[in-house]
Amino acid sequence: MILQMTNKTIILGLESSCDETAAALVANGHEVLSSVVASQFDLHEKYGGVVPEIAARAHIENILPVIRAAFAEAKVTTEQIAAVAVAHCPGLTPALLIAVTAAKTLAWVWNKPLIAINHIHSHLQSAMLEHHADCFPAAALVVSGGHTSIYNCKSPLELELMGRTLDDAAGEAFDKVAMILKLPYPGGPSLEKLAARGDPRTIDFPRTYLDKNSLDFSFSGVKTAVLYYCRGQDMLGADRVPTMSEKEKADIAAGFQAAVVDVLVNKTMRAAQRINAPTVLLGGGVAANSRLREQLQDRCAADNRRLLVAAKKYCTDNAAMVAGLAYHKLKAGLTADLYLEALPHQA
Ligand code: KG4
Ligand code: ZN
Repeated sequence: MILQMTNKTIILGLESSCDETAAALVANGHEVLSSVVASQFDLHEKYGGVVPEIAARAHIENILPVIRAAFAEAKVTTEQIAAVAVAHCPGLTPALLIAVTAAKTLAWVWNKPLIAINHIHSHLQSAMLEHHADCFPAAALVVSGGHTSIYNCKSPLELELMGRTLDDAAGEAFDKVAMILKLPYPGGPSLEKLAARGDPRTIDFPRTYLDKNSLDFSFSGVKTAVLYYCRGQDMLGADRVPTMSEKEKADIAAGFQAAVVDVLVNKTMRAAQRINAPTVLLGGGVAANSRLREQLQDRCAADNRRLLVAAKKYCTDNAAMVAGLAYHKLKAGLTADLYLEALPHQA
């Protein structure tokens, strides 16, 4: 098999790690020719979270239409692509399996290299989709529904973990607090909307920094503080949320959001200072949050560092970030074989 690295190296990326079925065609790691995402919010709404088997069934139905749409939108033929890339870890195994099986089949039938992508690492690539030059070294925060991690990025392929959550991911905390406040699914965007009408100074929820030098996170405390605020310390009292005023609920949302964002921003800046990184990268679903984007931008500006943040449409799960990172793996000759497995944890 000949590796095609012409002046336009187009890669097909596939993604099905959670509840989004996605396909994208990206040239040279950063030029997005098409990015198609089929979401399943309506299927999981009544369960208040993603049900793996339901997600997998929907991925089976969506994967081929999404791939066809990506080719049609980009006006690219299958002969023009250099490789097929897929997020194979971490995620929900039954869900991951669908894109992994599709990618292996297409790579085999089309006789193209197969590239295995770590979903979390690809979230960072989404911050580089429109800025391909000069990103490194960088301190990077990946903040999503499943993960909250800080990396020392020396290149797209050299990511050193500096800190991670010891319990809930930040997005998971947003989703759970949204459930406590009985907001519509998915919780993160609903909570941000409500917080915009509240005052973040009314309720002072706890900020957990752990050890003074730690770059790890813990969000279970602030989530529990919201629960106690609404249900009482002993959890024996009535749920106050149904009788709360809109203003009180908005103040809770704003106070919670401010507490989470403060910790995320302070720890990311601490990491950037520690490795003296001129650039800060931000990616993952929670990176769509305006308060996080604005506060990190202000702190980077004050600290004379450049913030590269994923465009909002590339914050939540998509396949453009998968195809983007795959370009660097292809260039480095890091291809996978047809024994590639879907893994719930990181490879
Ligand atoms: O990256 P992503 O699509 O999936 C994972 O890899 O987990 O992230 C989804 C997470 C969810 O927890 C969702 O509530 C959160 O990102 N999220 C937000 C916002 N938009 C999505 N959290 C806070 N504010 C937002 N605007
Ligand atoms: Zn994700």
